[in-house]
Amino acid sequence: MNIPVATVGAATAGVLDGLERLQGPVTVVRRCTELTELIAVSQSGIVRAAVVADEAGELTAALAERLAAAGVALVALADDPILRQRLEALRIVNAPSGVDPGALADLISAAVQALEQPVQDTRTGGSNSLADPAAAFGAGTAAPGPDDTALPEGRRGTVTAVWGPAGAPGRTTLAVNLAAEAAAAGTAVLLIDADTYGSSVAVSLGLLDESAGLAQACRLADQGLLDDAALRRISAGVSLRGHRLSVLTGITRSDRWVELRPAALAGVLAAARRIADLIIVDCGFSLETDEELSFDTMAPRRNASTLLVLEAADTVYAVGTADSVGVPRLVRALADLAGAVPGLEPRVVLNKVRASSVGRQPESQLRGAWERFGPGGEIAAFLPADYDAADASLLSGTALLETAPASALRASIAELAGVQVPGRRRGAPRTRAK
Ligand SMILES: Nc1ncnc2c1ncn2[C@@H]1O[C@H](COP(=O)(O)OP(=O)(O)OP(=O)(O)O)[C@@H](O)[C@H]1O
Ligand SMILES: [Mg+2]
Repeated sequence: MNIPVATVGAATAGVLDGLERLQGPVTVVRRCTELTELIAVSQSGIVRAAVVADEAGELTAALAERLAAAGVALVALADDPILRQRLEALRIVNAPSGVDPGALADLISAAVQALEQPVQDTRTGGSNSLADPAAAFGAGTAAPGPDDTALPEGRRGTVTAVWGPAGAPGRTTLAVNLAAEAAAAGTAVLLIDADTYGSSVAVSLGLLDESAGLAQACRLADQGLLDDAALRRISAGVSLRGHRLSVLTGITRSDRWVELRPAALAGVLAAARRIADLIIVDCGFSLETDEELSFDTMAPRRNASTLLVLEAADTVYAVGTADSVGVPRLVRALADLAGAVPGLEPRVVLNKVRASSVGRQPESQLRGAWERFGPGGEIAAFLPADYDAADASLLSGTALLETAPASALRASIAELAGVQVPGRRRGAPRTRAK
């Protein structure tokens, strides 16, 4: 196997001459003068590896992902120990600039081979390089959670994604209140607003910050600089019954969606798993793979972050509105989801359940309709419509457990979160939706 390679940076000159003298497995087919030229060459399909020397400081996760998407393995040459540490954090293969040409050839061959063998998807048993962000960004070391509780060595927090079709079915309400219930019960929770269309977690929790914590975390992850301390610093805190709920707020203007690049978001999730027991992600609704809408397959993709979260999540809730528009919409969306993320088994949640939209005994009506027209599988929860509780909670910018602790809506979400609400027996019949 002969590997065609493109290079950039004058510092590579000596090594490259050595590589050529090897007449071995690597052939330098292009010496580029700048990084942009190297990227163009990589995307043209004529090389399978790129060696970056002088400009290694410019490398980011997004760039590495772009080259990987073009099937080009990346090797960086750098001498500065801090830069090499950053490259390690980004999982970019690197060596000192004075590396022996034979050793460099071996590194290039290994990097090409690694690119050809995608990371094993631990959830579905399939293989998908996006499926395990921790594998791409290093599993990390055990570290204290947001509640300053030390996680046992090697433990990774679990990721729960809350998703659902267009039409405001209640994704944010569910995500915020699941997170609040778990946090108030003492779990170290990080709530992430990754909705690239309309973020609203900050306002739901009365956080007035405009700093878009997730965008900041993505920027650091892109540069390989997101360590546990930085993630804790960026996260906003909400105090709930003496416990802290950590929050990465979303992008305040939806036209800033470009900042949530999937490679960086994968890094954020990997870091999040190190500092929290439970990570809850409020996702955007759309699953359309944006490259179908554009001829530029390398353009940033708006829905890629939603797809990445759904692939990485341990649990996915699919939320739909319990009425004659919402249910068929959810059924179609679940078919799209099965196509976009094969093997995923979402937990279906019907929200705003009310007799006025589906008739008397709404839960059994909905269950019957689901059996006849649904994609199979159970409905994990019916959340009652409770406009007074939902409005009061939004108005005050607090979770239901604070604004409407005795409401049926709060009780149903707490049950879904596995939290026992005082005065209610676990498994006791839930308050009927009116
Ligand atoms: N069970 C419920 N009963 C009454 N109102 C509800 C319920 N769940 C959510 N709502 C209200 O419905 C509206 C939409 O909810 P939410 O913002 O959670 O939806 P979403 O799916 O995140 O929407 P978006 O598309 O804007 O992200 C809000 O006003 C919320 O208070
Ligand atoms: Mg929302």
